Amino acid sequence: MAKTYAIAIDGPAGAGKSTIAKRLAKELGYHYVDTGAIYRTVAYFMDLLGVSPKDSDGVERYIDELTIQIEYDEEGKQHMLMNGMDVTDEIRTQDISQKASLVSAQPVVREVLLDMQRDVAKAHNVIMDGRDIGTVVLPKADVKIFLTATPEVRAKRRCDELLAKGQKVNYEQVLKDIIQRDYQDTHREIAPLKLARDSVKVDTSELDIEGVIAAIEAIIKEKIPV
Ligand code: DC
Repeated sequence: MAKTYAIAIDGPAGAGKSTIAKRLAKELGYHYVDTGAIYRTVAYFMDLLGVSPKDSDGVERYIDELTIQIEYDEEGKQHMLMNGMDVTDEIRTQDISQKASLVSAQPVVREVLLDMQRDVAKAHNVIMDGRDIGTVVLPKADVKIFLTATPEVRAKRRCDELLAKGQKVNYEQVLKDIIQRDYQDTHREIAPLKLARDSVKVDTSELDIEGVIAAIEAIIKEKIPV
């Protein structure tokens, strides 16, 4: 099988991972994989069943009843299918963000999703974004980026995003949610969010999108023939 290249972009909620990864994937002709959406789909499924994301027995009991498929439309947008139903939009709420963070700490969930993520990377050149891509999912990724920004900047960006979608926002609440999610995602026992040894940290607090893209392109060019 021909060598496939992998670029891992990890970082906390709202650091701009998906915006940046999508742009780079388009430029490079790589497959973009938003792994957070997979955890969100699990959270949404458990929520519909009335299973708390903290209930490890409940999550373990029902996880086998969930089939997740990742599909891409003509524009390259990733769609999440939950037992055949497209839930791409339904998983994008503040409530599901929190529940995804909690359910992602369940060992059985991480185990089930690990192979799914690795299989995509075996078949395609990928840019994968998440929390544990460079540390656990693809420890041999050709490029590892850790994208971060202050919680205040991330909360502001998240508010702008929600406003653009016509949703009501409360900055203080969004900031509180981000700080809580940072805590949960960095303190869980399995595959917590942390900087991989060989990852390059990019702080986007003071940069606009073009600045971040330029910084990351320079890092990629050093490691991958593009
Ligand atoms: O990237 P996101 O905000 O859509 O992710 C939602 C939650 O899923 C996040 O708070 C933690 C979890 N997650 C994870 O544990 N590992 C990943 N690789 C991606 C997301």
